[in-house]
Amino acid sequence: FPISNIEHNQVASIQAQLQRRAHASHKGSYGDALIIGGAQGMRGAAFLAGRAALHAGAGKVHLGFVDITSENDVPLDIMHPEIMCRSAEQCQLQNTSVAIGPGLGQSESSKELLLQCLKLTHDLVIDADALNLIAQEPPLQSALAQRNQSPLRGFCNTIITPHPLEAARLLSCTVQEIQADRLKAATELAQKWNLICVLKGSGSLVTDGHTCYVNGSGNPGLASGGTGDVLTGLCVALLAQGLCAFDAARLACYVHGAAADQLVAAGVGPIGLCASELPAAIRQYLNRR
Ligand code: APR
Ligand code: MG
Repeated sequence: FPISNIEHNQVASIQAQLQRRAHASHKGSYGDALIIGGAQGMRGAAFLAGRAALHAGAGKVHLGFVDITSENDVPLDIMHPEIMCRSAEQCQLQNTSVAIGPGLGQSESSKELLLQCLKLTHDLVIDADALNLIAQEPPLQSALAQRNQSPLRGFCNTIITPHPLEAARLLSCTVQEIQADRLKAATELAQKWNLICVLKGSGSLVTDGHTCYVNGSGNPGLASGGTGDVLTGLCVALLAQGLCAFDAARLACYVHGAAADQLVAAGVGPIGLCASELPAAIRQYLNRR
């Protein structure tokens, strides 16, 4: 297996592609990004992903919350009124790049939403409880398997972002087994479902099942709750802007880590680096030439 390091020069051309913005472009040129999740008690996970998508340049950012009993009770991100919030059932799943998982929970309605995304959404990032649901539910597994078989769909459209425990659930093995051969685990997941797998952790792996890259950026400041949600929002924003899944995943992992490195260099962490501090640093990094 060829395995190479994701370094700045490795992602520079992907970043250049992202930075090309026509003078006469408009918000429609940069896509709609929708994040589905944020159940009761985990609303923040959806906000973090939404802020990351916003700062990573998506034309419009939508949050679809689960566990909403009345449309009047939809939470808002008052720091970021640009982000449009609805109950997940009210959201458009087609012609939108979707990330499902941050704070999703495992309710029946979450399961149904995930099934609909697997069937309808072309650009899809699957994270956290959405991965746990897939690990448990054979109908979701077959819907995932079927996604890439339709001739209408290019291969380049699905990203999964498991941490080692989520990967272990997907492969019915232990975390120790995943960590003992991370390359094998990531490759197996990518090949099994014909998608891009990001196996997270220090030295995240990004693979399409044939070529594997290991990310060199990032630091233990990222070892705190919510940083994975930020990565998910970053990935979906890059898909919304037209990058293919492999490019989006590689650039996202690199920039996510580089933003954390930049914060640590400025004295913000590693101790006490907050996930909510990452989106602005990600924006700064993405605009760097
Ligand atoms: N070095 C570099 N990167 C790191 C390091 C490190 N030492 N530690 C963590 N990271 C990065 C990972 O690569 C990943 O991108 O930080 C991110 C952590 O993501 P998650 O493990 O998904 O953590 P979190 O955001 O807290 O997830 C939220 O969802 O996945 C569930 O069970 C999980 O409760 C958790 C929630
Ligand atoms: Mg996570």
